[in-house]
Amino acid sequence: MANQNTSTIIVTGGAGYIGSHTIIELLQQTDYTIVSIDNFSNSNTDTFDRIEAITGKRVKNLNVDICNLETLELAIASVKNPIGVIHFAAFKSVPQSVAEPLLYYQNNLGSLINILKICQKHHISNFIFSSSCSVYGNVEKLPVTEQTPFSVAESPYAQTKQMGEDIVSNYTKSAPSFKSVLLRYFNPVGAHTSGLNGEYPRGKPDNLVPYITQTAAGILQKLTVFGNDYDTRDGSCIRDYIHVSDIADAHVKAMNYLIDNKQSKQTSVFNLGTGNGVSVLEAVHSFEKVSQQKLNYEIGPRRAGDVINIYANNDFAKKELNWIPKYNLDEMMLSAWKWQLHLQEEK
Ligand code: NAD
Ligand code: WQD
Repeated sequence: MANQNTSTIIVTGGAGYIGSHTIIELLQQTDYTIVSIDNFSNSNTDTFDRIEAITGKRVKNLNVDICNLETLELAIASVKNPIGVIHFAAFKSVPQSVAEPLLYYQNNLGSLINILKICQKHHISNFIFSSSCSVYGNVEKLPVTEQTPFSVAESPYAQTKQMGEDIVSNYTKSAPSFKSVLLRYFNPVGAHTSGLNGEYPRGKPDNLVPYITQTAAGILQKLTVFGNDYDTRDGSCIRDYIHVSDIADAHVKAMNYLIDNKQSKQTSVFNLGTGNGVSVLEAVHSFEKVSQQKLNYEIGPRRAGDVINIYANNDFAKKELNWIPKYNLDEMMLSAWKWQLHLQEEK
């Protein structure tokens, strides 16, 4: 068992949406020193002020591009006794990955290979990789289990996650003392319940929940629901929305699981979802209820490439990691709204 007071967990992408919430949980649930590596390519420096406001602790960030091995090596030299890495850093926009595939292959795979080289060189043996339910593509049988086979990736982004999982698994097989966990997130939404940290908006959002909150705040004019003629209970698409702090909590549990040598295999895979399928219209109505705002929305055409219906079987994460998602849909929506209001106040 590692001494938490003298060991460091490295969080790449620690200034980002899921990374920052995970740092908050790590700081609140463990005594590890946390060091972030983030070049702010999709985040803001003030994230670390937000983390400090919530936890009372200041986290050091190494501002380097993980794709540059030389500068990464120099930066890592300052980290004392690193024993684990949680690798969030990646680009994540599906449409951007279709428009700029080389950027996505380079950043998402290049950063992963470099951080694994760092693990190899510094004998860091506990590794968590951010994967995504997008690795499953269109599935035939629901709910999705970790054994559900991958379909053809629907985008270069999803392909970087499929390839990323292979890279981590194959490296793990080659290194007897190395252990890894692949976490497949379904649809992370919401914000810290304090309302002080959440997803930082950059341009027009592609994802449903920031689109809803920005519409309600008057930043966007109208939400378009992409189709109500699917073969689902109300005709709109179904997803497994999960609160970002529940996702963050699973990382703490997965890191402890690795460090405490609880896993029987060298690499384990977990679905992180609530197990509940929620339709777009149900999400909209939940938002309207908790925010007491009437949302300006219309039904529009289907969005190309949308999966109709996907939700997780999360039994394995519950059993092995002792993880139980705490937040329901209304709480997810309320926290997202609270964060949106906080951003408005800050302006
Ligand atoms: P995010 O964009 O908010 O955070 C990623 C962070 O990584 C950003 O702060 C960015 O500045 C940093 N980064 C990117 N490339 C870097 C590089 N080369 N060097 C240094 N820093 C770099 O994204 P997020 O929503 O927090 O997602 C985190 C991870 O989870 C990603 O790997 C993403 O693919 C995965 N994921 C996200 C979702 C989702 O819906 N948010 C779903 C499934 C999986
Ligand atoms: C959710 C639902 C839309 C916007 C994406 C990535 C996936 C993963 C999670 C990273 C869908 C509908 C949306 C709008 C709408 N990310 N919608 N109007 O597509 O499930 O998954 O994020 O790994 O890889 O593909 O999430 O939030 O875009 O959409 O009706 O303006 O909301 O059609 O049914 P998605 P999303």
